[in-house]
Formats: sequence, C-alpha cells, structure tokens
Amino acid sequence: MRLLPKSIKNILVTGGCGFIGGRLIRRLILDDNLNIFNLDKIGYASDLTSHNKYLKNIRSHQAKYTLIKSDLSNLKDTKHAIKLSNPDIVFHFAAESHVDRSISNPEIFVKSNVIGTFNLLEALKFHWESLSPIRKKKFKLLHISTDEVFGSLNLNDELLFNENSPYKPSSPYASSKSASDHFVKAWYYTYGLPVIISNCSNNYGPYQFPEKLIPLTILNAKNNKEISIYGNGNNIRDWIFVEDHINALLQLIVKGQIGESYCIGGGEQKTNNEIVQIICSIFDEIKPLNAPHIKLKKFIKDRPGHDMKYGVDNNKITNETGWKPTYSFKQAIRITIDWYLKNIDWCKQSYR
Ligand SMILES: NC(=O)c1ccc[n+]([C@@H]2O[C@H](COP(=O)([O-])OP(=O)(O)OC[C@H]3O[C@@H](n4cnc5c(N)ncnc54)[C@H](O)[C@@H]3O)[C@@H](O)[C@H]2O)c1
Repeated sequence: MRLLPKSIKNILVTGGCGFIGGRLIRRLILDDNLNIFNLDKIGYASDLTSHNKYLKNIRSHQAKYTLIKSDLSNLKDTKHAIKLSNPDIVFHFAAESHVDRSISNPEIFVKSNVIGTFNLLEALKFHWESLSPIRKKKFKLLHISTDEVFGSLNLNDELLFNENSPYKPSSPYASSKSASDHFVKAWYYTYGLPVIISNCSNNYGPYQFPEKLIPLTILNAKNNKEISIYGNGNNIRDWIFVEDHINALLQLIVKGQIGESYCIGGGEQKTNNEIVQIICSIFDEIKPLNAPHIKLKKFIKDRPGHDMKYGVDNNKITNETGWKPTYSFKQAIRITIDWYLKNIDWCKQSYR
C-alpha cells in the first residue's frame, strides 16, 4: 500500500510512542516503500506494546522500522538521531501533552516542547542544508500543534479559530506549544527551512493515555468509579477522532503549502457534560446492572486558567487539500469504547 509519494523514503516521527504519533506509525508501516524512524524519550505516556504487536503481524510487508530512544532536550543526541534517520519528511509530535501536568510541573514542558523543538530545528537545519538539491527540494517538517495556542472563545461566540486567530495561550502547556510554533515559523522565515504547522483540536481514540477526559471517563464508568468534571462541566471542546487527524496530516504532507499553518477540527463541539453523558448512556446499554452510570459524575474545583471553549474552522485545509473529518462522534466514540473494553490489559499499565 502506498501512503506517500514514491520519492519519499525516510520518515522520522518524533513522539511516535505516544497516542497520535503511534497511530501514524501503525499506518505508515503499511507502506513498504518507507523506512520509519521513531524518536521518543519513552516517557510515562509512551507505549511500546502496540508497535511490537503490530510489527509481528506485518513482517510480510517488509516494513523497516527503527526505534531511537532519545530525548529532544539533548542537542547532541538529537543531532545523532537526525544523522541516523537521514529524513526526507519529519512529523514532529514529541511533546509533553497534559494540561494538568503543565500546571503542576511547567518546567518539563519548557524542556521538551520549547527546547526540544529548538534542538530539532537546529539539527534539521544542518541536515537540510547538507542534502542534495533533489532531496532538499522534497524535504518537509510537519510540526503538530494544538488549537489551545489560540486561548479561549467566548461560550456564546459564533466565531471559530482559524489560521489568522491571534495566539493567546492560557496554560503552561499551551504557552509551550505556542513558543514552539513561533520557533518553527522563525526557522522558515529566517533560514528557509521547509515547514508546515498544524493546529488541531482535541483528539480521542484507541491507545490514548487514560489521564485525558475520554479514556478516563470510559475506564471509570467501566469500573463503577467516580467520574470527575472540572467546574460546571460546560466547557466546550471540538472533538476529532485520531484517525481523521492522521488523514489530515498525510494530506498536508502531500498538498500543504510550505510556510503555512492549517487548523484541523473534528466539527463536533461538545461540552464536557455532554461527553460524560454520552459515554454513560452507552455504558447503561453495555452494563445495565450499574445504570444509570451518570450517577458517578461529580463536579470538582475548576482547573486554574481553564479555557471555556474551543472550536475550529476547517475551511483552509478543506479547500487546499480536500480533507474533511469522516467520523461522527456518535460513531467513533463507540469504536473507542469498544477498543478500551477489549484492551483492559493495556490500560492496566497506566490506570489505577
Ligand atoms: N492529544 C490531543 O488531543 C492533541 C491535540 C492537538 C495537538 N496535539 C499535539 O500532538 C502531539 C502528540 O500528542 P499525544 O496526545 O500523542 O501526546 P502523548 O503524550 O500521548 O505522546 C507524546 C510522546 O512524545 C514523547 N516525548 C515527550 N517529550 C519528548 C522529548 N523531549 N523527546 C522525545 N520524546 C518526547 C513522549 O515520550 C510520548 O511518547 C503533541 O505535540 C500535542 O501537543 C495533541
């Protein structure tokens, strides 16, 4: 199966042991033209089991996959990893990604998300400048960022975030991602490094570390445990199924314009109360003895600096690449719940 043009051979994915990068790798492995390198420091949210399990079944595809255990906050190691992987395309996912952790320990977010991105840019600039003219022309860095860099919409706003929205991050996580976006743009404007930036909304799907709202709610509903919601639960997020996010990134690599940013959203704005209600109703069907599961819901003290609303305008990416989200929330939440229930052993590593 061919996912990318034949001329692209070496792909470096940073953060490929995480939720979204992991999904991309499991897709890219199907393209037997590619050599895939996964640079990951193997942190608390990393998962090795999915790739190993998958690779076992995929041997016949002659997939070439190399895991490089390395931390982007170390420049020397990062340069070594770039030399080893010799990339044509880089998907940069590696980042600390949990807002609550950024509030209690912001420093590691600066190290991984800001210094880590800076080191990657430095190493890639050197690599790109030394490529032959043909390879230099096709090289691209896709920097995967978040809609959280734009801060919060007002609850009653009709407006959505788009590529011209001003940066107004609220949390240490969002500020560190904003800083990394600015560095990436600067390496394009100043040195000509071919970059594309994507700003995506909240993802959900299989293999998401169960500290985020959706997997945690699923596992708490399954185990008949309290389901905590910050504040009054009216905060709105624009949910996207991880598969749709990956489709968008693959489109951007082929059809995205160098130096441009693209917003990506699932087009499914829901309050946290609605998310919990939908998951609880599905559990009422699956485990009627414990119904109604919504009784497990408990409001807790709000997160400081909690953004009220995110919502994304997909017009630019749709017009330029043809990409659109294909999964409805109603459909993909069932796929997600089903996956967690069938993979309880995987969850046991991280869920207590
Ligand atoms: N999850 C979402 O809803 C969402 C939405 C939009 C954008 N994003 C962005 O997508 C990217 C991936 O998110 P995710 O949810 O898969 O995160 P994740 O936490 O599941 O995975 C991140 C991976 O990056 C690795 N990593 C972190 N710091 C590193 C470093 N210094 N060096 C090497 N590896 C490092 C971790 O070990 C982990 O395996 C992040 O950049 C995030 O900002 C996520």
